Amino acid sequence: MSDDRLIVALDVPNVLDGLELAKTLGSTVNFYKIGLGMLTSGGLALANELKQEHGKRIFLDMKFFDIGATVEAAVRGVAQFDLDFLTVHGDPHVVRAARQGAAGSDMKILAVTILTSLDRDDLDASCIKAGQITDLVQERAGRALANGADGVIASPQEAALIRALPEAEGKLIVTPGVRPTGAALGDQKRVMTPAKAIANGADHIVVGRPIWQAADPRGAAMSIQAELA
Ligand code: C5P
Repeated sequence: MSDDRLIVALDVPNVLDGLELAKTLGSTVNFYKIGLGMLTSGGLALANELKQEHGKRIFLDMKFFDIGATVEAAVRGVAQFDLDFLTVHGDPHVVRAARQGAAGSDMKILAVTILTSLDRDDLDASCIKAGQITDLVQERAGRALANGADGVIASPQEAALIRALPEAEGKLIVTPGVRPTGAALGDQKRVMTPAKAIANGADHIVVGRPIWQAADPRGAAMSIQAELA
């Protein structure tokens, strides 16, 4: 049985590979994330096919950021498709515009706090105010939720801090940066196991390479589902 808490990142090169992987995973996985890397090679068509033909749930990871009017128009366009989650950056004006664009649809708007690939030097280079990243993540999460986000994307190590915010009550926390014990880290630095991420307050975990690069993707997904159970 599939558990919707596991979201598999379909970071494969094209639609055909994505469909093939979804076929291999079958009933083990019910929720897929499609990101920017797939956009120009049929990502939206893949999202539609997985949703309409295979009954899967879809997280479209677009991380929109622009002036409010443009974000609103972009989100309104995406909301015509039957999708479950969409990401935007967690800046208050972006979140408010996304909320407007998603009006009338059930699609959840998830706010990106601070990209997990950035460190303090990167933030300095972008003129982001002083302070520890974890504090800034918590502050940005609180503001995004107060401005209408349905949830936030964060590292599992920040999930408990965000869960403790009053603004986070009833909201979603979705965490990439998840690695089963013994799995290769790749470029992820601050990781947690699936069970620990959920124990820390995550509602959903996003797992990519430990599944799609595995010799036996279905077996890898099944063992994560067993860990969650
Ligand atoms: O392969 P892996 O499990 O590291 O994949 C994680 C997925 O989550 C990738 O699609 C990556 O782009 C995405 N992601 C992330 N960190 C964020 C936001 C999204 O790793 N802060």
